[in-house]
Amino acid sequence: MPRVSPEKPQSQAPDERSDTHYFDDDPAVPSDPIVIDVTLPDTAFALETDRGVFSRGQLDTGTSMLLRETLPLASSGDLLDLGCGAGPIALAMARRSPAATVWAVDVNSRARALCSRNAERNRITNIKVVAPSEMPGEVRFDTIWSNPPIRIGKTALHKLLLVWLNRLSADGSAALVVQKHLGADSLHRWLEKEGFPTERVASKAGYRLLLVKKATP
Ligand SMILES: C[S@@+](CC[C@H](N)C(=O)[O-])C[C@H]1O[C@@H](n2cnc3c(N)ncnc32)[C@H](O)[C@@H]1O
Repeated sequence: MPRVSPEKPQSQAPDERSDTHYFDDDPAVPSDPIVIDVTLPDTAFALETDRGVFSRGQLDTGTSMLLRETLPLASSGDLLDLGCGAGPIALAMARRSPAATVWAVDVNSRARALCSRNAERNRITNIKVVAPSEMPGEVRFDTIWSNPPIRIGKTALHKLLLVWLNRLSADGSAALVVQKHLGADSLHRWLEKEGFPTERVASKAGYRLLLVKKATP
């Protein structure tokens, strides 16, 4: 399997074929994995990536920005990586909070398989990889981190965020990284309108990092 260690900008573009997307449930595009080395200031891990899954062969710039910011992260309890892809966010959360359970959720079966293999490859045992329908209904999240699937469209994205942000625990927070040109500022306004206190905590290289608190009733 080829192994490279790049980290560079990538837009959230569809996969190479126009009829396939990184958020398909079961990508039709043939698998062609590449392992990359992800190096963060406090941890490092090998990450298998693949066609049909977001950001093959590189760590997305937005994801890298989220993982390099100092953000609230619960040290125990239940944490969520919403739209885990190959799992870079879930792996970093799990390494940083070894006493917590990190739920890695994705609709894409190839992404879930990659994320599980990546946890195993790096000997990380506190990640549970699940499809959205497999998440136990009673779980509440102390921290949610996400590079959300903007490309699914505004209506679907809003629906998705309402489902998961409403599962924040009372003191919980969510960090969302979104490209400015893909609507970060209108998403910020929408979150406030829905009652979620939201703060822009960083703005770099065309990305916004939004910190979202539980909605006020
Ligand atoms: C922008 S990618 C981020 C992937 C990964 N977290 C990263 O940073 O490389 C968004 C992910 O959300 C997933 N996704 C799309 N719709 C979803 C849904 N309804 N529920 C959960 N995940 C979804 C996609 O399959 C994709 O893997």
